[in-house]
Amino acid sequence: MMQHLLSTRDLSRSSAIALLDTAEDMAVLGARDNKKLPALRGKTIVNLFYEDSTRTRISFEVAQKRLSADVINFSAKGSSVSKGESLKDTILTLQELGVDGVVIRHPSSGAPQLLAERDWIDVPVVNAGDGTHEHPTQALLDAFTLRKNLNGSDARGRGLDGAHVVIVGDIFHSRVARSNVWLLDHLGARVTVVAPVTLIPRGAERWPVTIAHDLDAVLSSEVDAVMMLRVQNERMREAFFPNAHEYALGWGLTEERFDRLSSRTLIMHPGPMNRGLEICSAAADSSQSVILQQVANGVFVRMAVLYSIMTGTSEVPRD
Ligand code: CP
Repeated sequence: MMQHLLSTRDLSRSSAIALLDTAEDMAVLGARDNKKLPALRGKTIVNLFYEDSTRTRISFEVAQKRLSADVINFSAKGSSVSKGESLKDTILTLQELGVDGVVIRHPSSGAPQLLAERDWIDVPVVNAGDGTHEHPTQALLDAFTLRKNLNGSDARGRGLDGAHVVIVGDIFHSRVARSNVWLLDHLGARVTVVAPVTLIPRGAERWPVTIAHDLDAVLSSEVDAVMMLRVQNERMREAFFPNAHEYALGWGLTEERFDRLSSRTLIMHPGPMNRGLEICSAAADSSQSVILQQVANGVFVRMAVLYSIMTGTSEVPRD
C-alpha cells in the first residue's frame, strides 16, 4: 500500500486501478442519505495551501469530513508565512500540533517530495498540485470520469485501453497535463497534446504522447475526449502567444470547432475556466461536457486516496 501520493508517474497501473475502484465504492456511499464513514475518526488532516484553490481544497475538505477526520485548513495568506516562516518550520509546528496527514499545494515543484522525503514530519503526504510538476488527484479524477463515461457500469477493474484523449493548450505550465500524461499512459490510453510551439515544454518529446500544433487536424480524427487546459497567465512572465484573440483562434475550443466535433466526444476542463479564451460557453455548458462531473468525482477520488493511504486498505465496508 502507498505511503504518500506525490505523482502519477510513480503509480503502477494496478495501484491506479485499485484507487479508481475504491473511488467507485466512495461514489456508492455518496449516493446514500448518510454519506459518512467512520474510517478516519480521531485523525487530524491539515490542508496546507500556499496557492489559491476552489475545487481541490474544498473537495479535499468534503472528502476528509465524509471520512470523519478532523480538518485544519491552512492558507499561506494570513499565516506566519507572511512573516518569513519557512516550509520546514511550518511543518515542524504542525507536527507538534498533532497532525496525522498533510495535503499540500505549493508553487514550487517538488515541495511535497521534500515533506515526504525529509525527516521533518512522519505522516502521509498528498500532493494537491506543486508548481508545474504534478497534480495527481486531478489526473485520477479525470481518469475516473473518463472510465465511467466510456465504460459505463462496467468500469471496475478496467483501465482506459485504446481511448484517445487530446489535451489542448498551456501544456508548458500545466501540472494537470503532466499528471494526466503519465496516468493515461499507465491506463493504456493514447494521448495527443496540442499547443503552440511556445507552450510545449522542452523534454516533452520523451513523454508517451504525440505532439501536435494544428488543433483542427487533430480534432478531425476519432477522439474520445478533449481536455482543454487553462491558460495560466499568473505563471507567464513573457509572451507565449501574440494575444488572447489569436490564441482562441488557434487553440481554443470555439463554437465552430465544437460544432464539428462528434457528439460522442467528451469535453473536459480541470477548472477554473477562462470562458471565451480556451473554451466557449456552448462547449462548456453542453450535454457533452463532463466538467461538473469532474468536480463531483473529485470528492470520491480524494476519499479513496486518503482512505487507502491512511487505513492501509482499499476494502471499503458496505455499512
Ligand atoms: N483543478 C484545480 O486544481 O482547481 P482549483 O485550482 O480550483 O483547485
